[in-house]
Amino acid sequence: MLNYAMKLTGIFGRLALTNLILLVLISYFIIYVFHKTEQIHTILHDVTSVNLPVIADSDRLISSIERMNEFRLKYIVTGDEDFYERFNGFMAEAESVSQHLSETVTGKSKTDIYDSVSELYGAFSKMSTAQIKGEEHNNTEADTEIEKISALLTDKISELKNTADSEWQKKLERSNQMVEKVLHRSVVFMTACIIGAAAVAFFNTRNIARPLQKLGEKTNEVAAGRFPESFYLKAPYEIERLASDFNIMIRRLKESREQKEEFVSNVSHELKTPLSSIKEAAQMLKEGVFDNDPENSGRLLDIINAESERLITSVNGIIEISRLDINDAPYEMQAFDLGGVLKEIIKKTEPIAAAKKIKVVQDIAEELPEAFGAAEMISRAAENLISNALKYTPENGMINISAKKTDERLLLVSVKDNGRGISGEDLPHIFERYRRGRNQHGDVKGTGLGLAIARKIISRHGGEIWAKSRQGEGSEFLFTLPRSF
Ligand SMILES: Nc1ncnc2c1ncn2[C@@H]1O[C@H](COP(=O)(O)OP(=O)(O)OP(=O)(O)O)[C@@H](O)[C@H]1O
Ligand SMILES: [Mg+2]
Repeated sequence: MLNYAMKLTGIFGRLALTNLILLVLISYFIIYVFHKTEQIHTILHDVTSVNLPVIADSDRLISSIERMNEFRLKYIVTGDEDFYERFNGFMAEAESVSQHLSETVTGKSKTDIYDSVSELYGAFSKMSTAQIKGEEHNNTEADTEIEKISALLTDKISELKNTADSEWQKKLERSNQMVEKVLHRSVVFMTACIIGAAAVAFFNTRNIARPLQKLGEKTNEVAAGRFPESFYLKAPYEIERLASDFNIMIRRLKESREQKEEFVSNVSHELKTPLSSIKEAAQMLKEGVFDNDPENSGRLLDIINAESERLITSVNGIIEISRLDINDAPYEMQAFDLGGVLKEIIKKTEPIAAAKKIKVVQDIAEELPEAFGAAEMISRAAENLISNALKYTPENGMINISAKKTDERLLLVSVKDNGRGISGEDLPHIFERYRRGRNQHGDVKGTGLGLAIARKIISRHGGEIWAKSRQGEGSEFLFTLPRSF
């Protein structure tokens, strides 16, 4: 859910959402315009198919009635058959127009009027036909009657025409109003859309460009060799992630610079101390300070020898940890016999144990599964632990080296001694490089790199290394390794 919300507020989400909203609004508006156009079309269709034909038919009907009257009178006066024919012709026309009107007239008001028209026309045509056929006894009376009906009929037809005409005007007015309304709404909608889209584009761009600009400034600082403080950017989640990765990168760069500085200072200290002792001893020998004192001259040579050895150990340690720092390439891992590796180290360090009369007990599980890793590197780490145990355990002490399976995945190695132990204050720091405990009393030589190297090797195998110890009661160093399948 949170992820979904994050995606919506991201760059892609924002653009997709705003475009979608815009699309929905435009679609809605298109439907609205379409609907209104349909309505206008219906009104105009009504005007052309009803109102205009009704008006035209009304005019034609009035004219036919007038002509019927004209030829009826002419025939009565002259008795000319031709006029009779013409009368009949106009009557046929009036009937056909009336028929057409009955089909086109719609709406209650017009239909009511048309019904009266039809009724009056029926009476008019009936009386006119009767008179022309000579069925009326009194022509003058019939004339008056026909004149009266035809006046009424003409009035009704005019009423029908006027009604259709005023309806036509109203409908045109309505359609005009609708067109204007649609036009007005279109302009308002398009303006709102343009302003809205521009505002959204502006805010979106600003929300993206501002944090990017800030990130750019921070990058410039890094390029200039400065490490900016960790910062937070309020931005779309993609840029927030970029900023958080950037912070991590700065922290790593800072750490790596600090490490480099610490390393240089430690290394120079480690190398300078024995070198100056060697230089001083060599100087004294050269100046012949103890020329006649073979005992002291021998001591100076011993110092040179011991310090040179310390120098070699330091240089080797420094080279080793630097290699581990620089070379991040994965080890060539394979299944190997962990018990065998431990036994080999025990054998190799036997002379030291024997010299200090330290008893070394092996407790390597029978049928210990094979471990998975780089045997040479693991041997290097375990040797550091065993040589520490030998170094920090007094004469006649005891060391116990064990290896067993902990669960289905891991093997556990323990190197336990009953030596001088480590103080609670030092214990959390002993795996840091160049950290030497305060339990040395100046008697045990070392560079403080052994455990740092061991930790690096074990963690690159996906294992863990830790220590349990109490000052004066001995220590136990443990590490895990993945087993081979
Ligand atoms: N088995 C142990 N018993 C008591 N103290 C120990 C033991 N192992 C390590 N330490 C303490 O931890 C410190 C760090 O050990 P580490 O092996 O890293 O350095 P080192 O032994 O002093 O020097 P080197 O680089 O030669 O190994 C030691 O100086 C020592 O104080
Ligand atoms: Mg050591």
